[in-house]
Amino acid sequence: MTDSPAEKKKIVLSGIQPSGVFTIGNYLGAIKNWAEIQEQYDCVFMVANLHATTVRQDPAALRKNTIDGFAMLLAAGVDPKRSIVFIQSHNPHHTQLMWALNCFTQFGELSRMTQFKDKSARYADNINAGLFTYPTLMAADILLYQADLVPVGADQKQHVELARDIVNRMNGVYGNLFTLPDCLFPKAGAKIMSLADPTKKMSKSDANPKSFVAVLDPKDTVIKKFRSAVTDSGSGIYRAPGKEGIGNLMTIYSAFTGKTDEEITAEFDGKGYGDFKTAVGETVADALAPIRERFAEISADKAYLRACWESGCEAAQRLSGRTLNKVYKKVGFLP
Ligand code: TRP
Repeated sequence: MTDSPAEKKKIVLSGIQPSGVFTIGNYLGAIKNWAEIQEQYDCVFMVANLHATTVRQDPAALRKNTIDGFAMLLAAGVDPKRSIVFIQSHNPHHTQLMWALNCFTQFGELSRMTQFKDKSARYADNINAGLFTYPTLMAADILLYQADLVPVGADQKQHVELARDIVNRMNGVYGNLFTLPDCLFPKAGAKIMSLADPTKKMSKSDANPKSFVAVLDPKDTVIKKFRSAVTDSGSGIYRAPGKEGIGNLMTIYSAFTGKTDEEITAEFDGKGYGDFKTAVGETVADALAPIRERFAEISADKAYLRACWESGCEAAQRLSGRTLNKVYKKVGFLP
């Protein structure tokens, strides 16, 4: 170990699918964390629009969601001067590396992926090859940048493990091609539950719009949604079986304020559920307001957005090209 200031920072790579609506679950589970770790690591962040097409997409909606997703990252504090931020489909190296990785990934391994099994049940009429090889594309995303750490939610852990297996396999055959990546899980507030049913994960595809809070929801909507959050009929702000709704609100409040459970319980000692819901609503609304404003500003400046993703893509390709060249050479493709 050296403590020289020139010591190389670890490389972080992560991606988020352009889903249209970003909930506070997406924000707390991914984007907020990305903005916070930029100082500590050399970060590469992308809008994973290739991954999005494993389920049917309306082309115009996909284009809009991709731009909105990119603008959302910047609005939430991902800094294109400090980190590499780009759009996955702009860098052809991802699909190029994926081919090589596909040939080192077994049918059986991909068949065992829980997300593949879930999605092929949910989209039974469209179990396409892209859905099946989604994890090798994700492995390509990670390995191209020699990432040490991959911030993901628990649902993506199996995919990162597959990427590790591919690394070990290919490094075993060809020598040191890839860095072995590790997951980086967000500290707390990773799993935000539905406000309408605290036993279900918060999801923007929930038919009940009161069940989720979107980052771009206006202030009064946010407050209203928290006021109508489903809770039990008891009292007291603490976690306990049967108080999942209150527990979820505590998780959210804690993620936005940094307060511990004990501090929250003390703060609302003697107060009712209504007071707590209002406080959480106002806190979240206040935290989201600047993001919503920046998002509107950035989205209005199309030239700025384009310049950002173009320079992001250039920087990304410079890095990923090194890995891709090395792999293609080792595998035996003619230069
Ligand atoms: N599959 C991830 C998700 O749906 C998004 C993603 C794509 C990703 N490529 C990645 C995450 C690479 C981490 C690293 O959440």
